[in-house]
Amino acid sequence: MTESSHLPLLEVSGLSKVFETPAGPLKAVNAVDFTLREGEALGLVGESGSGKSTIGRLVLRLLEPSAGAVRIDGTDLAALPPEAMRRLRRDVQVVFQDPWAALNPRLTIGYQIEEPLRLHTSLSVAERASRVAEIVERTRLSAALLARHPADLSGGQLQRACIARALVTRPRLLVLDEPTSSLDLSVRAGILELLGELKRDLGVATIFISHDLGTIKLICDRVMVLYLGMVVEMGPTAELFAAPRHPYTMALMSAHLSPDPRQRRRRILLRGEIPSPLDLPGGCVFASRCPASLKACHAQRPPLVAFDHARSVACLRAGDDLASLMGAHT
Ligand SMILES: Nc1ncnc2c1ncn2[C@@H]1O[C@H](COP(=O)(O)OP(=O)(O)O)[C@@H](O)[C@H]1O
Ligand SMILES: [Mg+2]
Repeated sequence: MTESSHLPLLEVSGLSKVFETPAGPLKAVNAVDFTLREGEALGLVGESGSGKSTIGRLVLRLLEPSAGAVRIDGTDLAALPPEAMRRLRRDVQVVFQDPWAALNPRLTIGYQIEEPLRLHTSLSVAERASRVAEIVERTRLSAALLARHPADLSGGQLQRACIARALVTRPRLLVLDEPTSSLDLSVRAGILELLGELKRDLGVATIFISHDLGTIKLICDRVMVLYLGMVVEMGPTAELFAAPRHPYTMALMSAHLSPDPRQRRRRILLRGEIPSPLDLPGGCVFASRCPASLKACHAQRPPLVAFDHARSVACLRAGDDLASLMGAHT
C-alpha cells in the first residue's frame, strides 16, 4: 500500500468560524477536529445553534474558516488551484433541509438533476442522459417527473430530486443537512430508507446533520456531539448510544425515546443558562447546565481526550459513574 492510501478522505483540523456580528464576534465553531474515511457516515448532533450547519458549510467551502484546515485526500482546500476546485465541486455534494428553496421553480426537474454534470464534468450529452437516467432510477423518482417543474412535485419527490442531483456526479463525500426535517412525517421514513440504501450501495462518505437521534442511529457509523461549536463527545454510534460518556450526550439521549423498553432511561432535565456564543466562558461550556459539574469544570476547559479505544470525551468526569450522578437510572 502506498502512503496516500492511509490518508482519510476528509481531515478537519482546528476548524474555527467566528462571525462578525453587530453584537461582536460570535464564535460558532471552535477548534473542531475530525476525520472521515471513504464510505463512512458521521453524524453531527447537538441543539439548534451548536454549529452543525456551519461545519457543513465550511467543509463544502461555502464559508471560509477563521482558523484551521479542511483537507481532502491530504490537500488543504484553501490552497486548491481552480481546476482542482472544479473537481472538488464534483466530489463533494450537499443536500439541504428545504428542497423548495434548493430548486429553481422555473427550470424542469430533469434539467436541474443534470446541471452538476454540465457544470463540473466534460461528459457528452448522451453520457449525461444515461447518468441522469441511472440516478433517477436509484432514487426511485418517476422518469415522467423529469419534464415537470418543482411546483408539480410533492416535498418527498422534491427531496428525492435534490438527492439525485447531489449524487449524479458520483461524489465521494455527501453533506446532508437535516434532509428530512422539512418533510411530512409520512414521507420521512421513505427518504431515510433511500439514504440508508444509497449509503450501502454507493459507499459515499456522508456527514449527516440531524437533531433526530433515531435517524442518526439508523444511518451513521460514528457520531460527533456538539455543544456551542465544540465537540464534547465523539465515537462509534453503537457505543455512544449504549453508554454515553459526556453529561450532555447523556441528557440528549435521555430525551430520545428508544422503542426498546429495556433502553428507556429517565429523562434528564437540564437547568441553568446556556452561555452566549458571543461570550463563551473560559471553563467547560456545558458546566452552567451540567448536573455533574465540579468547581474545577468552571476553571478550565476540558480537552477532548481519548476514552476507551475509539471514543473521545471532553469531560473531567468521563470516567465516573455519570448515570447515577445525573439521576439517569429508572
Ligand atoms: N451567517 C451568520 N452570521 C452570524 N451568525 C451566524 C451565521 N450563521 C450561523 N450563525 C450563528 O452561529 C451559530 C451556529 O449556527 P449553526 O451552524 O446554524 O447551528 P446549527 O446548524 O447547529 O443549528 C449560531 O449561534 C448562529 O446564530
Ligand atoms: Mg443547522
